[in-house]
Amino acid sequence: MTIDWTALRAAALEVSGHAYAPYSRLHVGAAGLTDDGRIVTGCNVENASFGLTLCAECGLVSALHATALHATALDATAPDATAPDATAPDATAPLPLDPPATVPALVAVAVVAGDGEPLLPCGRCRQLLQEAGGPTLLVDTTRGPVPLSELLPAAFGAPDLSARRESQGS
Ligand code: THU
Repeated sequence: MTIDWTALRAAALEVSGHAYAPYSRLHVGAAGLTDDGRIVTGCNVENASFGLTLCAECGLVSALHATALHATALDATAPDATAPDATAPDATAPLPLDPPATVPALVAVAVVAGDGEPLLPCGRCRQLLQEAGGPTLLVDTTRGPVPLSELLPAAFGAPDLSARRESQGS
């Protein structure tokens, strides 16, 4: 897949204009390219209770999930007009809020401050991006794109949970 880094950076800069950053005055925008060819974005949202601040990458990852297709779950819960009582809820149908069948993976991410220059994701966001794109996710830096594995080597992930979880009752 060809990655248009100029477009990705431009999308990140555009969304940085939506940042709510009255405390740090660092307006951050993040834009990610998905493996189904879409661009998803997010901006930072600060709070008077400083520790509650949401980084731009949090918004991006939320948008990644929020815009994923829910077609399977929604189709399954649509009322069947031919059923005797079409309004009765089908208790066996998956809830619309069930996870969608396919959440696209991120393949490339650009994070910028309001000046349009690349900003390296903070540690927490590297971990978030790891789960949304994996170690091969390309991250824009001032020296060009680098794989996330370079920014977050020896990452903790879901396989560590399943490998190390202790069985119940022992
Ligand atoms: N920030 C981000 O949005 N992403 C990062 O990866 C680093 C920091 C934001 C959080 C806060 O609103 C401001 O930048 C200053 O830390």
